[in-house]
Amino acid sequence: MYLLALETSCDETACAILKDGRALVTSVVASQMDIHARYGGVFPEVASRQHVLSITPVIAQALSNAGITLNDVEAIAVTRGPGLPGSLVVGLNAAKGLALGLGKPLIGVNHLEGHIYSAWLYEAVEQNPPPEPQFPLVALLVSGGHTELNLMRGHLDYQRLGATLDDAAGEAFDKVARLLKLPYPGGPMIEKEARNGNPAAFDFPRAWLEGTYNFSFSGLKTAVLREVRRLEAEGRVLPVADLAASFQAAVIEVLYVKTMQAARQYGVREIVVGGGVSANAALRQAFLRQNEFKVHIPPLKYCTDNAAMVAAAGYARFRMGQVSGMEIDVLPTWPLS
Ligand code: KG4
Ligand code: ZN
Repeated sequence: MYLLALETSCDETACAILKDGRALVTSVVASQMDIHARYGGVFPEVASRQHVLSITPVIAQALSNAGITLNDVEAIAVTRGPGLPGSLVVGLNAAKGLALGLGKPLIGVNHLEGHIYSAWLYEAVEQNPPPEPQFPLVALLVSGGHTELNLMRGHLDYQRLGATLDDAAGEAFDKVARLLKLPYPGGPMIEKEARNGNPAAFDFPRAWLEGTYNFSFSGLKTAVLREVRRLEAEGRVLPVADLAASFQAAVIEVLYVKTMQAARQYGVREIVVGGGVSANAALRQAFLRQNEFKVHIPPLKYCTDNAAMVAAAGYARFRMGQVSGMEIDVLPTWPLS
């Protein structure tokens, strides 16, 4: 059973084809990163117009990679939200056109649930599929727009344990990168600089928000800003690597410790980590070093935005009969729970 998925929530135009629920046949991502880099962030109108140009070639490429035709596709999944309205509309309309033309079901997917479901994927060419995540589990979602911890007792069942009260983790990485005059996108640049820096060089604050599973990263960002201003006022060359490493250590410690606490409190055995920030090597190492819980973190290329994750979540919805009607609209601020 082939499922075709589209993702256009932000600045990646993506199409993926999934076979029998978990086996990923192909994942095509047309990135607009170079276009937005000159603005220092995503320019919404430019993004939606670029999706219009890329969506058809990306679908054609995915079908060609998979060696199938549209007639082989049994269902169409698409990101409905959250995301940029003008970008989401392009993917949703393309998906409606495909579903209508083929007479196949349309499945609207939440982008955040896609990031979580990327942990279910494996490459179709793999001989031994890895075991799928087992419920109940705690899911840490860390992206550019969202940071939250969810307890999942079953498929598509999200109980939010906590979320960021201000900046998302990825947003904090991007803002601090700008303070350190690193180019867009900030997350990978901070990680690169941090590799040569001392994580203990600066003692940046950790917002523990004791007794909750909420997060806060704006105080940390301000602390970095203050340090940068102080160093600049003294006429010093910025120790970018040390600042990046110390900032990254502060973010990761809070994400890691709170996720572990939640997993213990709710008595789960497994943890899923997803979203763009889960590409961060230091975050991955923190989770992979421990053996108290089985941790599922997707391969790097499925951490940042892609359509494979939308396909995996779409299949979970399809299997549970959660098919959408043709009247659905985009949901730019769609919470997971
Ligand atoms: O999930 P994603 O691709 O898009 C959203 O749904 O937001 O996440 C993008 C975010 C950006 O803030 C980016 O800076 C961050 O993920 N990111 C990283 C890394 N790679 C991407 N943050 C830290 N380390 C990385 N290696
Ligand atoms: Zn995302």
